[in-house]
Amino acid sequence: MTHTQAIPTASVAEDFRRSPVVRNAISAVIGELRARQSSITAVRGPRSAESRQSYERLLKLAAETRGRALFYPYLGSGLGHGPFVELADGSVKLDMITGIGVHFFGHSDPELTGVALEAALNDTVQQGHLMANTEAIQLGETLLTEAKRGSRLEHVFLCNSGAMANENALKVCLQKHAPASRILAFAHCFMGRTWAMSQIGDSAANRQGLPLNVLVDYMPFYDPAVARRMSAGDASGATRFIDMAVSHLRQSIERYPGQHACFIFELVQGEGGFNTAPPEFHRELMKVCKDAGIAVWDDEVQTFGRTERMFCYDALGLGEYVDVCCVGKMSQVCAALFTKAYNPKPGLLSGTFLSTADAVHVGRRIIERLRDGDYYGEQGRIARHHRAFSQQVRSLAQRHPEWFPPSPEVPDIVGGFGGMMRFSPFGGKKEPMIKLCHNLFEDGVISFYCGHGPFHVRFLPPLGVMEEALWPTVFSIVEKSMSRTASEIK
Ligand SMILES: Cc1ncc(COP(=O)(O)O)c(C=O)c1O
Repeated sequence: MTHTQAIPTASVAEDFRRSPVVRNAISAVIGELRARQSSITAVRGPRSAESRQSYERLLKLAAETRGRALFYPYLGSGLGHGPFVELADGSVKLDMITGIGVHFFGHSDPELTGVALEAALNDTVQQGHLMANTEAIQLGETLLTEAKRGSRLEHVFLCNSGAMANENALKVCLQKHAPASRILAFAHCFMGRTWAMSQIGDSAANRQGLPLNVLVDYMPFYDPAVARRMSAGDASGATRFIDMAVSHLRQSIERYPGQHACFIFELVQGEGGFNTAPPEFHRELMKVCKDAGIAVWDDEVQTFGRTERMFCYDALGLGEYVDVCCVGKMSQVCAALFTKAYNPKPGLLSGTFLSTADAVHVGRRIIERLRDGDYYGEQGRIARHHRAFSQQVRSLAQRHPEWFPPSPEVPDIVGGFGGMMRFSPFGGKKEPMIKLCHNLFEDGVISFYCGHGPFHVRFLPPLGVMEEALWPTVFSIVEKSMSRTASEIK
């Protein structure tokens, strides 16, 4: 039985979806997809000189219409094969960044394509908050069932971007704690690019020229290099760092009594550098928030699905503290989830669009696949991939220690959590890192950078479909690109 057929409705629509004509047509398309994508199995260059030229023209057009050139000369053809993606010039790249974490099941996944084809038979492209089809409710319920396993989250509001999920979460927190209007956030956090989120996100460049009307107090995020310096030759550096952060938080709360509505936690910082923290760090801060009546808002837009549990708060054992939580990216449809106590008054949350029918259908299927697969836990597929990735970085560093010079800024050359993977060559300096990302792209591996200093190369690979055996291929390209970068920066 296929995904859409499982919807228990007695309707003409259901008869249509189940009809042999429709089922056979979808099977035929998927069969053709499998046959075509079987030729996409390795990195390669453009198909011909002509395809290269017309691609150049498309890139020029992209720059003209956007007002600036693309970061990478990437324009997809619309077809791929798992971790391999075809560009419009017929070249093929290995995708280790997946649209910044969106395509966990890679490119042209046959099952998800089948679900999307069924979804395309919906009467409308968009689902809305006034008029949605049954699948939107089922997506919310599927997500909530997983969320509830380790938290008090009870309700969900769906929308179509991570920034909008965060906007909705912010409003929920502000309404609940009105008139408190201040927000607590970590240094180096990122929350999206609406006006409010650009103000909370800790990046000066992302709010250039914007008038400020959101009151934010920044707390230090856990920093292992600083914790190490704080240790008195024993293992107490982490405890001292946590005590310092808690005292910082208490000071801020005393400075503005009753004025903080929420503390936004990005449990593993994404754009900020794939920075992790021991669970006790978050737990101690969350406890202070609970005592002070401040909402604990967990932004899982980047972490959702890809750490060692579906929700990062579960991976870190923090679910009991979470009042509001946002997810996005690999879920295709984004969402703000909240507890009963945070259910807002009517009028606060709505919108013309909820998301598109195919995003709703595919998003639900992705959550089911994450739930039913072998992804999570210490021996799960995601953790195994992280270990394989780390081994590759460490063996590269053994072969080429000159590419990984010791730096006080970079306590470890490899880091992240689960499917959030980073490595930090060239002392974590920005220019070589960006040069390396461009060289990697040219050589056939798509990555991106993260951090505000130190900088890192980051991977958000399609672990849902990638085999561990592919890592040596990825790293043979990494080695080539790093060699080139090293000689260029000399
Ligand atoms: C933690 C976090 N929150 C929010 C966002 C914003 O999501 P979107 O780009 O879908 O608006 C991102 C995007 O990278 C993110 O990493």
